[in-house]
Amino acid sequence: MQLWNKGFEPDRMIEEFTVGNDRELDMLLARYDVQGSLAHIKMLESIGLLTADELEVLTGGLNEIAAKIECGEFAIAPGVEDVHSQVEFMLTERLGDVGKKIHSGRSRNDQVLVDLKLMMRESLRDIAKATAQVFESLQSLSEEHKDVLMPGYTHMQIAMPSSFGLWFGAYAESLVDDMQMLVAAYNVADQNPLGSAAGYGSSFPLDRAMTTRELGFSSMHYNVVAAQMSRGKTERAASMAIASIASTIGHFAMDVCMYMCQNFGFVSFPDEFTTGSSIMPHKKNPDVFEIMRGKCNRLQALPNEIALLTTNLPLGYNRDLQLLKDIIFPAVSEIIKCLDMCAFMLGHIRINRDILSDSKYDYLFTVEDVNRMTLSGVPFREAYRTIGMQVQNGEYKPTRQVSHTHAGSIGNLCTDAIHEKMKILLDKIGVNIL
Ligand code: ARG
Repeated sequence: MQLWNKGFEPDRMIEEFTVGNDRELDMLLARYDVQGSLAHIKMLESIGLLTADELEVLTGGLNEIAAKIECGEFAIAPGVEDVHSQVEFMLTERLGDVGKKIHSGRSRNDQVLVDLKLMMRESLRDIAKATAQVFESLQSLSEEHKDVLMPGYTHMQIAMPSSFGLWFGAYAESLVDDMQMLVAAYNVADQNPLGSAAGYGSSFPLDRAMTTRELGFSSMHYNVVAAQMSRGKTERAASMAIASIASTIGHFAMDVCMYMCQNFGFVSFPDEFTTGSSIMPHKKNPDVFEIMRGKCNRLQALPNEIALLTTNLPLGYNRDLQLLKDIIFPAVSEIIKCLDMCAFMLGHIRINRDILSDSKYDYLFTVEDVNRMTLSGVPFREAYRTIGMQVQNGEYKPTRQVSHTHAGSIGNLCTDAIHEKMKILLDKIGVNIL
């Protein structure tokens, strides 16, 4: 039975095709749907569309449904189209005709939108928390190993000295940039679309400021058409933030895979964090970072997928938008899984403290030696040529002294300043870090 049933049953194949796996995905929206309805009926009472008694009865009914959702007893029945219909059916079944009044002045179009906004706010916060955990691990590893040098590469050729402090710290600061995207996505989500109804508002004198306050939104989408346009845009902004984090974590995963390779041997993990081969008895593979890299690479396709789904849609609601849930919901849990796994693995990473004593890394120090000569008064180009000729003639002997002091360099990581940038961003969305 559909909310829109007018006396004929839709063809079963049509029903199945259009509903797809929406019932399953809508289960994740259930608690937000009830939250939105609670705010909506409070507002309906304030403008005289419900009596105080009706409000009380409906609020009680919705709270009962909320309790069922929390304890896992809520389900969307097979013949019911979506979560919005299920909640309305349950209310009407339990409370009779008063249940039928709840939908005045709204449409499932703004209902699903408000559910999504509420959910995205929370999901983005969850992603921020998981990101903050990785950030903190990276920062403490960076400080712990700030004196341990490692090779830095350009063009995949040995270039200049780097350090574990720089390496871990680089990914921490890169996550700060991703957090900028996430906070922006949060701000897009944090606006009330309720009251836009089917997409063109309502002739009821809806108090949209009241539902904005009730639902704790910082602002509202004022223009009702703009509110509807935010379906797709909200998910797109969130997907950009997710893709941005995924690019950082995927990049880090690639480094770890490479650094675990015997030809590098920069980092390792206890045996139980590696995987084996069915044929080669010696193998200790970095599968966890390969899966992380693969998942993160897939997540970077999200903004494209959403762009393709939503580009050139006619203005107003179109059912295509339903499919957004299928893209964004699994993406939220995938990125959190990757972040959690990354934080977990960072807790067990072992680093090679003696990489640079191998003579194959001697050339890392050429720039150090050029700079030392320059500081003692030799013009830079001359010093460069002297060391260059020593290398060319096989006579170069590195001094192996590294002294970097400027902001952000090996000897001055600015960990606290980076932490402060992250803290300011997280504060904006109510997430605390130490
Ligand atoms: N399941 C639908 C969605 O996610 C709910 C809105 C349905 N609206 C409609 N006009 N058919 O978009």
